[in-house]
Amino acid sequence: MKSNMPEWVKDAIFYQVYPQSFYDANNDGIGDIPGITAKLDYLKSMGFNAIWINPCFESPFQDAGYDISDFYKVAPRYGTNDNLRELFREAKKKHIRVCLDLVAGHTSVEHPWFKQSSKPKPNQYSNYYIWTDNAWESGVSQDKNSVNTVSGFAERNGNFVSNFFYFQPALNYGFAKPDPKKSWQLPVDHEDVKAVREEMKNIIRFWLNMGASGFRVDMASSLVKGDTHFDATINFWREVREMIDADYPETILISEWGDPEISVQAGFHIDFFLHFGKHGDAYLSLCRKGDLSFFHPDGKGDITYFLDDFIRQFHKVKEFAYIGLPSGNHDMKRMHSDIPYKNVELALAFILTMPGIPFMYYGDEIGMKYIPHLLSKEGAYDRTGSRTPMHWEAGKNMGFSKAREKDIYLPVDYSRDAPNVKTQEKNPDSLLSRVKKIIQLRKNHPSLGTQGQFSPLFAEYKKYPLIYLRSDRDEKFLIAINPSRQKTESTLRFTKLKKIAETLINTGCHLKFDKKNIRISLDGQSYGIFRMD
Ligand code: GLC
Ligand code: CA
Repeated sequence: MKSNMPEWVKDAIFYQVYPQSFYDANNDGIGDIPGITAKLDYLKSMGFNAIWINPCFESPFQDAGYDISDFYKVAPRYGTNDNLRELFREAKKKHIRVCLDLVAGHTSVEHPWFKQSSKPKPNQYSNYYIWTDNAWESGVSQDKNSVNTVSGFAERNGNFVSNFFYFQPALNYGFAKPDPKKSWQLPVDHEDVKAVREEMKNIIRFWLNMGASGFRVDMASSLVKGDTHFDATINFWREVREMIDADYPETILISEWGDPEISVQAGFHIDFFLHFGKHGDAYLSLCRKGDLSFFHPDGKGDITYFLDDFIRQFHKVKEFAYIGLPSGNHDMKRMHSDIPYKNVELALAFILTMPGIPFMYYGDEIGMKYIPHLLSKEGAYDRTGSRTPMHWEAGKNMGFSKAREKDIYLPVDYSRDAPNVKTQEKNPDSLLSRVKKIIQLRKNHPSLGTQGQFSPLFAEYKKYPLIYLRSDRDEKFLIAINPSRQKTESTLRFTKLKKIAETLINTGCHLKFDKKNIRISLDGQSYGIFRMD
């Protein structure tokens, strides 16, 4: 049993809301907080019981809100703090948890702290950010303390460290091993660094007090500079975790770290497998490696590449934390880019029946496409195509907003095969209906979720299909998936499975039992989920 892990997390099925593109309640062309509240019934009907909202705080939106200018205030374009409070309240009534996005590592250059910090005259905020000693000294060096600096930005005689884009100055969490020759590299226990840490804790408290159920933490590993093994960064997050365990035991921290083995030491309840970092290649090999993806119909992928890595991590952290498995997110291409619509269902069936915690990126449940070649919006560049408005129904702005077409945040996809919620809700065989069904299954049968055993029955190097068992003391589920266009035949020997107790979903899977073996044939691009005896 995981210590101090809120009970609800084990059954969590997350939905990621990109607020500007979800639903526009006041018809000004931009999605908003009341829009999320308005769609809670939809989320509930689908079975999602937790959401994560991308940053919704005041910002000049040079990086879509990951450049915050006021941590304590909802961006006016999304509504007010009261709107967010109401969202927390309404969601709670429907047993849906709401997590926010915590951008702990940096702010916008518009943040008042940074404005003060940029002034030549020393003040309370001078050390809230990291500045070199003079305008001609860069932070780039040959050693481990090398940091990117921006020069010529302010009157202050120095260059500041940026965390991501140039306009995202890094908050000062200090250096793990400051260079004694560079007095601007503060140690982690410096008073001013401590002040920054306290600021971040206050921000966390503020939203948790208002009713948030936790945070997805942006670039969680980025805080302390020159922190080769992350020891100092881990210490900070542990401190935060202690605060949460003591004062907010029902809330959680989810890291954008991409290395569960490490982030678990930092006290995160969930960390993701993502498109970058140590497990990036494994994650990408599922749906984002072109025709070499396992879920691509050409059948040239390799599921062991993902599974070996995932299962190893899973066992390493399972006593303490969960691994988040996202269908996608606002930083990568949607899965319906490299793989066809039909295979999106197979990939989602996989994610929703794995022992990780599923995170559904808005729109993936209907198979929204990645829209290529859009002009970059708010620092999104090639991420723009994954951030287009949600399709609620056919017609004007696909039901996202009643604003004029030219005023909406990003264009919707009017192509004839563009999916939408309303049409799919009416069709029991649509992607949406299947996703809903699998979510229900996962909720009704703990063995299909985080608690069940995972045993591969057929998962071989560069071979298809993938067959696995999810089980606990009471139940066994066999899941067989064939993303390839070719029909597959596999024989499972000595499985102790006697017969099918219940066919839950079957789009082209045939099981034959003889003596101790099961012969499973799968049509091209088909899958099945069976409860077994
Ligand atoms: C994270 C966010 C990304 C953002 C960056 C800088 O990776 O997911 O969208 O641009 O951090 O905050
Ligand atoms: Ca709006």
